[in-house]
Amino acid sequence: MALLPLPCITKITNPTPNPSHSTRRIFAKPSHFITHAKRNNHLHISCTSQNHNDNASENVECSQGKVDRRNMLLGIGGLYGATNLVSTHEASANPIQPPVLDKCGVATYWNTTEKKVEKIDTCCPPISDKIIDYKLPPVFGMKTRPSAHRVSPEYIFKYNMATDRMKRLPKDDPRNFMQQANIHCAYCNGAYDQPGQGNLDIQVHESWLFFPFHRWYLYFYERILGKLIGDPTFALPFWNWDNPKGMTIPPMYMDSRSALYDPKRNKENFPPAVVDLGYTGNKDPLQVVSNNLTIMYSEMIRGNSSALDFMGKEYKEGSPVNPGAGAIERGAHTSVHRWVGDPNQPSGENLGNFYSAGRDPLFYCHHGNVDRMWTLWQYFLPSSKVPDKRITDPDFLNTAFLFYDENAQLVRVTVKDCLDNLRMGFDYERIDLPWLDYRPPSQTAGAKIKRIGTNVPLAETIFPLKVDKIVRFRVPKTVKGKARELLVLENITVDTTKFLKVDVFVNDEDDNVTELDKAAYAGTYAQVPHKTSTANSMATTSIQLKLTDLYKDMDVADDDDIVVTLVPRHQGEGMTIGGIKIIMDPSPPPATT
Ligand code: C2O
Repeated sequence: MALLPLPCITKITNPTPNPSHSTRRIFAKPSHFITHAKRNNHLHISCTSQNHNDNASENVECSQGKVDRRNMLLGIGGLYGATNLVSTHEASANPIQPPVLDKCGVATYWNTTEKKVEKIDTCCPPISDKIIDYKLPPVFGMKTRPSAHRVSPEYIFKYNMATDRMKRLPKDDPRNFMQQANIHCAYCNGAYDQPGQGNLDIQVHESWLFFPFHRWYLYFYERILGKLIGDPTFALPFWNWDNPKGMTIPPMYMDSRSALYDPKRNKENFPPAVVDLGYTGNKDPLQVVSNNLTIMYSEMIRGNSSALDFMGKEYKEGSPVNPGAGAIERGAHTSVHRWVGDPNQPSGENLGNFYSAGRDPLFYCHHGNVDRMWTLWQYFLPSSKVPDKRITDPDFLNTAFLFYDENAQLVRVTVKDCLDNLRMGFDYERIDLPWLDYRPPSQTAGAKIKRIGTNVPLAETIFPLKVDKIVRFRVPKTVKGKARELLVLENITVDTTKFLKVDVFVNDEDDNVTELDKAAYAGTYAQVPHKTSTANSMATTSIQLKLTDLYKDMDVADDDDIVVTLVPRHQGEGMTIGGIKIIMDPSPPPATT
């Protein structure tokens, strides 16, 4: 069913792309916009609650009403006060160490046309023996990153000029566009080993390093662009793919004469094609919009029971790569990479493979929105909706990366210094969040699924399971009926050189699996092709999906088990799931306000 998100698509009456910090509240229609002024002021969250069961819309205040920003920050605790936390903790720590640049080696990726591993030895940055511990400069003026669909011609002109200049820098200047693109290749396709850890790669995806690494990456990219046009206030745009108004490739990236253009993209997905955050292949634009909002709701709110479900799993010195990606990374983020990348290129170039993704200027706009999701999760989603957000582990906070800054100086940065975007000097334009209340309509498929249930095998009889076609099986619950439970997919062995995606449905008898806007949709596992290790391209990972809200929306009544359907979106082999089980949710329930 295509559920029109109309009530939440509001008119944006202020087209100013880059308002100053003090004027941000001018965004119209206060009842539709999240507004906030400075930290420590009152944060007034309001929204349109959309009842999309009956197509009616009502304007109601979100239940959280007025939230004191300081309390939110305290709630987030470790994030804002991270530095203090670190110093008071015993530094047991073995965080991932930054790479040793003169040990940078070959990166690899899988060539799907020729079916072979390709080696690239051009992803390593210039070497410098002078590494400075980066100190965040004082923030005099807040940069506001604009929604890419709303920017002015003047903004596009400046951004294009800056990118053009970046492309024209000498090839060995670490600020050169290809050098910047190669940062992603080196950190993501196996060019770096963890110092002192043998052949273990450094990998900045599929773990809790995903958001922090990419935040720093964009931070310096943005500062370099600003420097090249003499405008330190320059702010990167974000691709607003979570709002129906932003669900096409932003127009400024489509001008083939512009430095923002990249010929290696899927032509079928040029505007007006609606970005398919579920990678379902559904071509009905209204259905895709509805799928997208459901996915956003699921990945930001409904499917996560702990901070790590959102951020990604722990990854420390000596750990193998790919412990497990957070919900946004696996889901919307992966789909956008693959949806833009050109399927006629050998490896989905450019955006569709990590080694090449940074070569498309659109990458930095896509990741602007990924980063924006992190800020929304940290500072805007109320504690009644999401779990405790604190990650206070020093091994997380002290993880360090190396980048070249806007002065071509090699700097060492840490995770703890990037947890607060305002401290880093940037914020995001306030845009309506139509997914905030896009909970799927309740569904009572119980009776029907029971009929097919008798023919459905028990999970334990069919696992481990190669996921190359749709499969349905039963998983026993820990208790009858509604409960706080998690669905755990464990020992997932993945070939990291391949695109893989599997959607998970519960008690769904339907075989029209390109509609995700229903209560039965429980979540997604997916990955962008990359490479984990020069020795071995297989990795083991796991995910968990919160079932609590799903049970409320489905008729699980007195059932002893649920029927799970796995729907792969990739072709062929590459993924085996070791086991699947339901456990009680060990995390405390979200606070009731
Ligand atoms: Cu490092 Cu979207 O990838």
